[in-house]
Amino acid sequence: MLIEMAPLAPKDRYKLIAGFIVPRPIALVTSRSMGGVDNAAPFSAFNYMGEDPPVIVLGLQVHGSGSVRAGEIKDTTKNIHETGEFVVNLVDEAIAEGMNVCAVDFPPGTDEAAAAGLTLAPSVAVAASRIVESPVAMECRRIAALEFGSFRQVVVGEILWMHVRDELIEAETLTIDAAAYRPVGRLFGSLYVRTNDRFQLPMMRYSEYLENGPARIRDADKPSERR
Ligand SMILES: Cc1cc2nc3c(=O)[nH]c(=O)nc-3n(C[C@H](O)[C@H](O)[C@H](O)COP(=O)(O)O)c2cc1C
Repeated sequence: MLIEMAPLAPKDRYKLIAGFIVPRPIALVTSRSMGGVDNAAPFSAFNYMGEDPPVIVLGLQVHGSGSVRAGEIKDTTKNIHETGEFVVNLVDEAIAEGMNVCAVDFPPGTDEAAAAGLTLAPSVAVAASRIVESPVAMECRRIAALEFGSFRQVVVGEILWMHVRDELIEAETLTIDAAAYRPVGRLFGSLYVRTNDRFQLPMMRYSEYLENGPARIRDADKPSERR
């Protein structure tokens, strides 16, 4: 089947894009309005794009057709537009349900983190708060934004500071305990994946490829696995 994107309704494009580009990491983004109101909302149009500088991207849409705020700008978009600052809080199994509460189309001015039972704490370099229960929180400053139509944006953020839960990292070598870190990935709609079924597939040098042929998948599901 060959599908041209242009004639499709946006909801059908979304079905295809969000259904096939999976699993996606989830950024639970905290931001603060110019008036000082804290906001939290999840975004799975999210990924890291480089380390020099350390940048991430977020895809911010408008409120969807099923929402009482259909077509309206999201509070996250407005806050980042006005302040240029935000925090990306990564989502593990323990805060997945709280993350989902933050996606409710609450009226502007609602503190979603409080509604979700999540705790906000001050950041080091940005006014937006971070979420204490998140395994990793990244304080970001917007360095670029692409605007599409009304109120839709791709925001590029530079990571200034990273707060990492102590038990997830070995301070000296920055080695991450991959077995202790339990991030969730988003599939489509209300479906998610856990990340505890991992396998190894080492990247090869040309000489290794010539000598040994393609690397084979190996089970990596050992409790002590580190990276
Ligand atoms: C797991 C998950 C991922 C989401 N990803 C996105 C996304 O990438 N872009 C987007 O615009 N909305 C996304 N949403 C919807 C927003 O979180 C939702 O519209 C939220 O109410 C926006 O809140 P705000 O107005 O406080 O910014 C996602 C929702 C969930 C549950």
